[in-house]
Formats: sequence, C-alpha cells, structure tokens
Amino acid sequence: MIKLKDEKDREIILKHLQIDMNEEFKAVLQYICHRISAKSIDNGLAEAFKSASLDEMAHILFFSDLITKYGGTPEFSTWDIDKSNDIKVMLEKDIELEQAAVKRYEKQIEDLQDYPELVTILTSVLNDEEDHEVVFLEYLKKQ
Ligand SMILES: [Fe+2]
Ligand SMILES: [Fe+2]
Repeated sequence: MIKLKDEKDREIILKHLQIDMNEEFKAVLQYICHRISAKSIDNGLAEAFKSASLDEMAHILFFSDLITKYGGTPEFSTWDIDKSNDIKVMLEKDIELEQAAVKRYEKQIEDLQDYPELVTILTSVLNDEEDHEVVFLEYLKKQ
C-alpha cells in the first residue's frame, strides 16, 4: 500500500493519474484505428500499431488500479483521436502522442520522488513510450 503524506498530495496524484489513464485510452483507440487502416498498406506497421496499443492498454490498467488504490474513482473523458488513413499522418500524430507522454511521465517522476512505488510504475511506462517513439520514428523515416 502506498502511503500518502497528506490530503493535498492525494489530490495532486489522483489528478495526474486521471489524466494519465485518459491519455492512455486515447493512445489505445488511436493505435487500434491506425492498425486497422494500415493493415492493407503495410502489415509490419499494422503489427507495430497493435503491439503499441496493447502496451497502452496495460498502462490504462496500471493507472486505473492506482486511482482505486488511492481511494479515487476512475473518470472517463471523451477521447479525441486521429482517424487518418494516410500512413505519414498517422505516424506523425502517434509520435506527437508519444512525445507528450514521455514529457508528462518524466515530469511526474521528477515531482513524485517521495513515492518510490509510483516512480517505479511511471518509469516502466516511460520506457515503453520511449520504445514506441523509436519504432514510429523508424517507420516515419521509411515514408
Ligand atoms: Fe502508454
Ligand atoms: Fe506509447
């Protein structure tokens, strides 16, 4: 069980986690759309989208479980996603998502140093996002 210093920390952490969970939902949906649209164009890329999407799904559950653990209730927002069927646009939009995620998690890791269990989870998620960015950038170079 993660012990929080005070109610203010609990509120700040829950706010971060709600954003994280919803951003991960956005990534899952966007990458699944891209997997479907890319399938007939580039099967290798379609598989890369699927693989990233599955990672993002695991991330949703890390964050939703943490919200519950801290006594919060997961709140679902609306998810505005890219639905392009142009490979280059898809990759650019996905790289944007990954770069925003990397920035968000780096900042949270910095801010939440008092909570090692959170830092461990955020670091593992951050490593996945960095891997996704590398894969998407490689595919973008080939376009
Ligand atoms: Fe993620
Ligand atoms: Fe990612």
